Amino acid sequence: MSDDKSSETPQTGLENLMREERRFEPPAELAQNANVTAEVYDEASADRLAFWAKQAERLHWTEPHQEVLDWSNPPFAKWFVGGKLNAAYNCVDRHVEAGNGDRVALHWVGEPADDTRSLTYAELQDEVCRASNALTELGVAAGDRVAIYMPMIPETVVAMLACARLGAPHTVVFGGFSADALASRVVDCGAKVIITADGGYRRGAASALKPAVDEACEKAGDIVEKVLVVRRTEQDVEWTEGRDVWWHEAVGNQSTSHDAQGFDAEHPLYVMYTSGTTGKPKGILHTTGGYLVGTSYTHWSVFDLKPETDVYWCTADVGWVTGHSYMVYGPLSNGATQVMYEGTPDTPHKGRWWEIIQQYGVTIFYTAPTAIRTFMKQGEEIPNEFDMSSLRLLGSVGESINPEAYVWYHRVIGGDRCPIVDTWWQTETGQIMVSPLPGVTAGKPGSAMKALPGISAAVVNDEAQAVGNGSGGYLVLTEPWPAMLRTIWGDDERFKDTYWSRFPGKYFAGDGAKLDDDGDIWLLGRVDDVMNVSGHRLSTTEIESALVSHPKVAEAAVVGATDDTTGQAVCAFVILRESALKDGEEAPDSLIEELRKHVQKEIGAIAKPRQIMVVQELPKTRSGKIMRRLLRDVAEHREVGDVTTLADSSVMSLIEKGMSSSSED
Ligand code: PRX
Repeated sequence: MSDDKSSETPQTGLENLMREERRFEPPAELAQNANVTAEVYDEASADRLAFWAKQAERLHWTEPHQEVLDWSNPPFAKWFVGGKLNAAYNCVDRHVEAGNGDRVALHWVGEPADDTRSLTYAELQDEVCRASNALTELGVAAGDRVAIYMPMIPETVVAMLACARLGAPHTVVFGGFSADALASRVVDCGAKVIITADGGYRRGAASALKPAVDEACEKAGDIVEKVLVVRRTEQDVEWTEGRDVWWHEAVGNQSTSHDAQGFDAEHPLYVMYTSGTTGKPKGILHTTGGYLVGTSYTHWSVFDLKPETDVYWCTADVGWVTGHSYMVYGPLSNGATQVMYEGTPDTPHKGRWWEIIQQYGVTIFYTAPTAIRTFMKQGEEIPNEFDMSSLRLLGSVGESINPEAYVWYHRVIGGDRCPIVDTWWQTETGQIMVSPLPGVTAGKPGSAMKALPGISAAVVNDEAQAVGNGSGGYLVLTEPWPAMLRTIWGDDERFKDTYWSRFPGKYFAGDGAKLDDDGDIWLLGRVDDVMNVSGHRLSTTEIESALVSHPKVAEAAVVGATDDTTGQAVCAFVILRESALKDGEEAPDSLIEELRKHVQKEIGAIAKPRQIMVVQELPKTRSGKIMRRLLRDVAEHREVGDVTTLADSSVMSLIEKGMSSSSED
């Protein structure tokens, strides 16, 4: 099911995008008061390692490092060699000890109205210590892996920090993923404990989480020893005696003191699974010191965070990397006050997010273009009902923000006064890599602008040569950076092959990019078999594997087709097994629905195809590779491109004919 990569060279409508170019200069007041000034770029390029060593001083270390970077065995980096620190201590205790225990760390807002809770740093410290003591009692020790499958509630943050405090790497699995997806992650990293909840509130109703955990435990065999369950929704749950433990019973009565031990800078902090170009998600490993330095510095500089006065809100779910770096580790290491919201933006009404901004006086707001496009469609009357004058800075992440959405975000949400930071990064990079710096860099709608200080990025052609201004190619990172992934959990070879083999010595991000005439970077989307649906990464191959695991499917090809709201949408082309239909019979809608549900069960609702089309043949090259490029043309209702390399060029006209008569979800 591999693709013809040569056809995937970055192109797309960038010219159109750039024609609409406008510049938003930094507001004068911000330029005067921003945390960083323009000189920081020169300082970092004069001595990159000294620059990062200076940023490391932002944290508390129990042992100082002896060497900033050990790059003697690339691509296996070691940052802050010999240094020791405790991530949870840095995110919590240190702020209490500095006299800021009364500062609110989390303003938590549940989805049901009036279900709110604010935790100060001192309260967070108590909770994290209690949870650390409870986990220790359950047998969790440094090095043990703990899976976290939770809704967006304060206990999720507490659980992550408790794991970090014990040196037990966590793997947070997005609550929208299926039992199968949870099981495969639990098995891959060998998690002996799962922390979960009975459920959470989404779209006005309680949804369940525990049944998926029970199913995953069954699938994972005897790996999981304990399941710690938070009571959130009061719904009934099945209980396995000896394995299941209530959070309030195990954690509630523990002591609030716990000694945080320093761990080696390279001690694993967490594993986050992300989709790659093959069927099996990759466990991206982040370690403690470099990751915390990278996220802490970038959160402070890119969001110009003033911890005493700002109220920061990142709308990402904690199950994704954005929730890790810019809801947990970055903001908390900086002592920020932030909002955490459990539910969906339109519950109980379409202005819920704006109401929260008004209520808590949010000053910095970080979200994804797909959300902004949804709000645009609903009309500006809804946000206009709320007072959002507290906002001073806006952020965007997950995909390129199209100029129209950028301008709307700037005008309607930002009241024409808030700069926008379009932040490019990945699960693998751990920290923001390409972004404007507020107060320093101008913003251009659609461009993530330039590599941050201390980061070396380039756009290269197929021969790995840097392209000039005005040209396109592939985005690469040419020097190691502190929060970089260290490997793929349990698979060093795959780590080397995936990221470091395409352009030897350089990290290949998998994104196409172009430099404009000023040398600013414009991201053009993935150049591999990875789709971006609502800012979430999905692998075409993973969904194809899910489809062919259905007994009625013989073969499947999946493409990401452009979608006005979600950026891309999953479109599948399937060949059914002969036994699935009677001769001459058309695939009934019920079968299509069955296949969509099957994908949901295998992976999760986000992977459910928008459209499934039953075909007789798939377009393949003579060597048998599926030409997804042609399928994408069909799915996007475009004239089909060059078909001369197809083994049978008549296949495409059959598919096109069928497409015009198929229905979309
Ligand atoms: O294609 C890029 C896109 O999202 C990918 C990374 O996805 P993930 O690891 O899930 O992390 C998402 C949140 C950091 C990238 O390879 N992407 C992310 N941010 C941007 C972006 N594309 C363009 N502009 C961005 N600001």
